[in-house]
Amino acid sequence: MSDEQAPELAARAAALLNDAESAVAGATDRDALAAVRARLVGKRGAVKDLQRAISALPKEARRAAGQSVNVVARQVQALIDARREALEAAAGDGPLDPTFDPTWPGAVSPRGSLHPVTLILDEIRAIFTRLGFDEVSGPEIEDAWHNFDALNIPAGHPARERSDQFYVEGDRLIRSQTSTVQIRVMETNEPPLRVFAPGRVYRPETVDATHLYAFHQVEGLMVGEDVTFVDLKGCLLTFVQSLFGPDVEIRFRPSYFPFTEVSAELDVRRADGEWMEVLGCGMVHPDVLTGVGYDAERYTGFAFGVGLERLAMRRWQLGDIRLLEENDVRFLSQFG
Ligand code: DAH
Repeated sequence: MSDEQAPELAARAAALLNDAESAVAGATDRDALAAVRARLVGKRGAVKDLQRAISALPKEARRAAGQSVNVVARQVQALIDARREALEAAAGDGPLDPTFDPTWPGAVSPRGSLHPVTLILDEIRAIFTRLGFDEVSGPEIEDAWHNFDALNIPAGHPARERSDQFYVEGDRLIRSQTSTVQIRVMETNEPPLRVFAPGRVYRPETVDATHLYAFHQVEGLMVGEDVTFVDLKGCLLTFVQSLFGPDVEIRFRPSYFPFTEVSAELDVRRADGEWMEVLGCGMVHPDVLTGVGYDAERYTGFAFGVGLERLAMRRWQLGDIRLLEENDVRFLSQFG
């Protein structure tokens, strides 16, 4: 096209603008506009053709021609943009689907409820957080060190029998108590410390009205200088009264755990008058403190492990612990 003339190019540009005005106005939906856009300003579109033609002009004419083609190019693009906005706005405010009735009531989906054990745990969290305890956790699959040795339960102890634990592989087992977390915390932190650790524990128990083979505990541990049994009793009294009200009847019974000295169990009175054990506790055994590298002359501590299902039974007067793991919706939907 070496014979291209500047006036001719200007005329083509004017014609293109004309054509664009009617083509854009005639595009009545997005797809039509996209086609028009490709034809006018696309890679092989009319505007590109004009721009290419400029290079065939005599040198002196190129600048002026280039400017006028650019002006047209911008105008065409502006036409397309305006049309697109108009089409989008129209789509938004378009006539409603005649079958759509906005006065129909909303479809309310059924709402779940929280499991009683979750409700109890939430309360326990709030109570111990208020008492200055931090929440921690540990693994469910444990080694013999954390489940036994570090808790003063030596090899050969009857509690370690293969039939009394859920062993997974070798000496690994799914933990039978959250006391494992005490050890993990003390191994990695220096006193003073105050922690509570909720978690699931497993024991090959025969299931009956007060026993499950998998249940929940919250472990508590406080270590520092001058921590005494009085602190333990005060803390647990506050805990039980916060949960069950100030009139709850409780009793501390002397007991035995390898990892505490002295040891006790705490019972609460049920509505039927029976005492029910809800937690074990005691002063952390000096051998346990020494075992994690603490100075047992300087530090003392108390610990406790409480069963959540038992607390839920007392709270809602449940006669059978199995209600808490059957997941019968008629039972569960009665809770918050
Ligand atoms: N780990 C004991 C159990 O599962 C409960 C327990 C007793 C936890 C005394 C403690 C404790 O921290 O000091 O039966």
